[in-house]
Amino acid sequence: MSPLSSLPLVLLSISTILLSFPFNIDGLSTQTCPSYPTCGSVDIRYPFWLIDPSHNTTTSNCGYPGLGLSCGNTSKPPILHLSNDNDHYVTNINYKLATLTLVNVDFYGVPCPQPRHNLTLDDAHLFSFTKNDANLTFFLHCSRAPQLDGGFEPAFLSCIQNGSRTYATLKNLSVLGSSWSLVCKDSIVLSSVGKGVEESGLPQNFGYLLSTGFELHWTTPVDCARCADSGGECLHVKGSFSGCLCDNGEIRFYNCMNTGTIRFGLSLSLSLPPLFFSGLVLVCEINWS
Ligand SMILES: *[C@@H]1O[C@H](CO)[C@@H](O)[C@H](O)[C@H]1NC(C)=O
Ligand SMILES: *[C@@H]1O[C@H](CO)[C@@H](O)[C@H](O)[C@H]1NC(C)=O
Ligand SMILES: *[C@@H]1O[C@H](CO)[C@@H](O)[C@H](O)[C@H]1NC(C)=O
Ligand SMILES: *[C@@H]1O[C@H](CO)[C@@H](O)[C@H](O)[C@H]1NC(C)=O
Ligand SMILES: *[C@@H]1O[C@H](CO)[C@@H](O)[C@H](O)[C@H]1NC(C)=O
Ligand SMILES: *[C@@H]1O[C@H](CO)[C@@H](O)[C@H](O)[C@H]1NC(C)=O
Repeated sequence: MSPLSSLPLVLLSISTILLSFPFNIDGLSTQTCPSYPTCGSVDIRYPFWLIDPSHNTTTSNCGYPGLGLSCGNTSKPPILHLSNDNDHYVTNINYKLATLTLVNVDFYGVPCPQPRHNLTLDDAHLFSFTKNDANLTFFLHCSRAPQLDGGFEPAFLSCIQNGSRTYATLKNLSVLGSSWSLVCKDSIVLSSVGKGVEESGLPQNFGYLLSTGFELHWTTPVDCARCADSGGECLHVKGSFSGCLCDNGEIRFYNCMNTGTIRFGLSLSLSLPPLFFSGLVLVCEINWS
């Protein structure tokens, strides 16, 4: 047998050894994903996880990287940091439908909120809007009422007074034309699931719409999918998939199945100090099916 042809066998036996012994990930001493105390009556569990501010970011967490929540005040809902300008309270999580309801922290319980930033989804792979969401378009810093296409005039929000006028509409900005920019300095688009509010009711109800929030659907990240498909729960470190936690409490590198394609990666162990090898990057794929 040439040395080369025995390589697969060597790799196979290494993988068998690795797969038959669960390995430890720093900070994850439990054999299941942790459950957390409720935060503002919102139940936090996998694939969500609680960001522990006292922990180092080298600690492995159960869940999806983009679904870390902070609970600064247990009598308020947990906070999701959606993007730079957008901290949102998570007021509801539907684990069955994989949807969550988000309310901008600046709008929460505020009768006359002042929109300042567009809603942006940095992680467009993880989140998408649902069919319950409607768009609310705001025109800011207007000198007078903008005339939109078709002679349509948006609703004046008289409660927002800041040296200029603010208008809003539920109509789609894409059909409104651009003549509004002659009298207003900026526009903002936000989402809301508020139902039953008419265009004419906006001056009284836009605050209700914004403090009701909007809905997002979350999807399984690509690098976690094989683990999830095999019934496991994904672990991650610093935003990257780092292991698969299986029913029996074992942590595998890739997924919870014993047959088929098995792949393991031993990476330069900056992020996972206690792994078996360090200083070497070895990624190996064995396909015996
Ligand atoms: C976090 O890391 C720093 C530096 O590596 C260390 O001094 C500190 O003890 C760590 N804290 C925790 C909670 O592990
Ligand atoms: C937590 O929120 C409640 C309700 O808004 C408030 O009364 C309380 O002061 C807050 N606690 C802290 C520590 O911020
Ligand atoms: C809301 O706006 C976003 C982009 O700003 C768009 O993708 C989405 O289709 C709009 N939703 C509705 C219901 O018009
Ligand atoms: C009022 O408008 C100014 C200038 O646009 C802005 O800097 C400021 O933050 C606004 N204040 C409020 C309370 O919205
Ligand atoms: C609003 O415009 C966007 C972009 O053109 C389009 O995708 C969306 O379907 C429109 N929504 C409605 C409710 O017409
Ligand atoms: C919001 O987004 C629209 C469309 O992308 C853009 O024209 C507008 O300038 C943005 N507004 C702010 C305040 O960034």
